[in-house]
Amino acid sequence: MSKHVLGILCSGRGSNMQSILAAIDAGQINAQVGVVLTDKPEAKALAYAQSVGIRSVCVNRKECASQQEFEEKLVAELKEAGVTLVILAGFMRILSPYFVGEYPHKILNIHPSLLPSFGGAHAHRDVLAYGTKVSGCTIHFVDEHMDHGPIILQDTVPVMDDDTEETLAARVLQKEHILYPRAIQLYVDGKLELLDDRHVRIKQ
Ligand code: GAR
Repeated sequence: MSKHVLGILCSGRGSNMQSILAAIDAGQINAQVGVVLTDKPEAKALAYAQSVGIRSVCVNRKECASQQEFEEKLVAELKEAGVTLVILAGFMRILSPYFVGEYPHKILNIHPSLLPSFGGAHAHRDVLAYGTKVSGCTIHFVDEHMDHGPIILQDTVPVMDDDTEETLAARVLQKEHILYPRAIQLYVDGKLELLDDRHVRIKQ
């Protein structure tokens, strides 16, 4: 069977992307990366992917007249690269039903909180403001709603009394770097069974 082709979308630093690339290199994910896409030319993920010889393209949102044009360009790049699984790795843009419909149940996202709590762009700040004692990260299928689709894996970290956004983010990120490669491997191994629009069963 031919390998899955990943299309990784990032907006910034790209540490999750790097953990996925490292897991592929280590033989822990049986897939190849077809393209890395960013929405900003300054995204560090773009420079890193270029430096290791992965096809990488910036589709600059600011140069697109509309969200539809932006997403059509992203989809064109993904199709050209033969992508079979879309990985959102710190991609800080909401995607419309058009994009999601192009890859139904073939888009994964990572979010740095225990969804459905603390969705949105400021998860760690919101966790600290609320005073929860536990936080974590979530890998889920993407549906038409933000931070909403069926959950694949979650892991937890304690929230410390003296945490700042930065210290909490760093603790969660360590878990992210383990969890995302694991979820992708489960997907490419065909071990994720979508029971309905909320429940994912992991086959043994
Ligand atoms: C990660 O913590 C990821 O969970 C988060 O952005 C960070 C990206 O870091 N994603 C979201 O907040 C999505 N709503 P990275 O660029 O180093 O992977």
